[in-house]
Amino acid sequence: MLFKNAYIENSSHLQDIRVHNGIFKEIGELLPHEGEEVTDLGGRLVLPPFIESHVHLDTCLTAGDPVWNMSGTLFEGIECWSRRKEKLDEADIRERVKKAVSMYASHGVQFIRTHVDVTDPALLAMKTMISLKEELHDVMDIQIVAFPQEGICSFPKGKELLKEAVEMGADAVGAIPHFEFTREYSVESVDYALKLAAEYDRLVDVHCDEIDDEASRGLETVAARALELGLFDKVTASHTTAMHSYNNAYVLKLMRLLKMSRINFVANPLVNTHLQGRADTYPKRRGVTRVKELMQAGINVSFGHDDIFDPWYPLGNGNLRDVVFMGLHVCQMMGYDDIMNSYRFITHNAAKTLHITDRYGVEKDKPASFVVMDAKDYYDALNRNATVFASYRNGLKM
Ligand code: FE2
Repeated sequence: MLFKNAYIENSSHLQDIRVHNGIFKEIGELLPHEGEEVTDLGGRLVLPPFIESHVHLDTCLTAGDPVWNMSGTLFEGIECWSRRKEKLDEADIRERVKKAVSMYASHGVQFIRTHVDVTDPALLAMKTMISLKEELHDVMDIQIVAFPQEGICSFPKGKELLKEAVEMGADAVGAIPHFEFTREYSVESVDYALKLAAEYDRLVDVHCDEIDDEASRGLETVAARALELGLFDKVTASHTTAMHSYNNAYVLKLMRLLKMSRINFVANPLVNTHLQGRADTYPKRRGVTRVKELMQAGINVSFGHDDIFDPWYPLGNGNLRDVVFMGLHVCQMMGYDDIMNSYRFITHNAAKTLHITDRYGVEKDKPASFVVMDAKDYYDALNRNATVFASYRNGLKM
């Protein structure tokens, strides 16, 4: 099959794409073979599929059920969720996750990393998500992080539950050091999670310092253990909002370790702009990690939605354009090149976070998965909130 007249990733000239047996066969100025099916893309933008690098699918689509979070705070969100949790069962999780996945797919997303709460002795959400991962594979690649929402050392049998989830088939190990009862537990929980990942050959994604407390220093422990255990870019630090409030002298020192450790970062500009700074009067902190500075240091950063229409974030329809739009504003990255290249936060940078670069990208011999945007380049797509004209997965139109 031949796709004619595409601007691939903001290219200045039109190119053609040949797909055979679900693989990119040729890219360039191509003529159709005899009898070959030809699709004219009419000068539209082609990008690799979008990647959601941080979301909680097990809580999505529950906003207002049974009550709305009226203050919008994290704490009222937890109260709302504890009431919603009472009617959590397998059918409920399956229905919501399937709906959310189809919302994402309609916006050109083909890969999702979801955190799943494992501080539940029955591991209900984890079991359900593992079966859904298999079931939804034709439309979405789902990566599962075993996420200890209420702590590893501060929750009864937290270590055992985390290990059980990994043995059950979680792709990545999580932790939540800033939520642990004490500084000692915080360090111990990170040690435990990263050693578990090394032992079982899993990725790591830590909810790291998602708090405005500048004394929250889980990040240095995550980076140090990633380095010492040789896990490097298999490790991701999500949120790191405390880094927004660290003093600059400390950040200067920390940057050396971050570079050596080669860990990835995920920022969640929508949710953290909404939830952080709540203990401030004025001035109110923005509460998003230092994206621009991390990028300038050559450190990988992707963007995630985090929550979709749930007690912690009352909006969201699976369109990652909104995440990028907010991220550019709040991180003050509105230069021409910043805007033009901002799709990378939800494509290539996210592919590094998910550790899938070997099978991702519009390149010869890779799986022919791509999206066609109704725009000529990403600046235009972002500015006009352009729709996804078509999404192809392994050569098949979705
Ligand atoms: Fe999160």
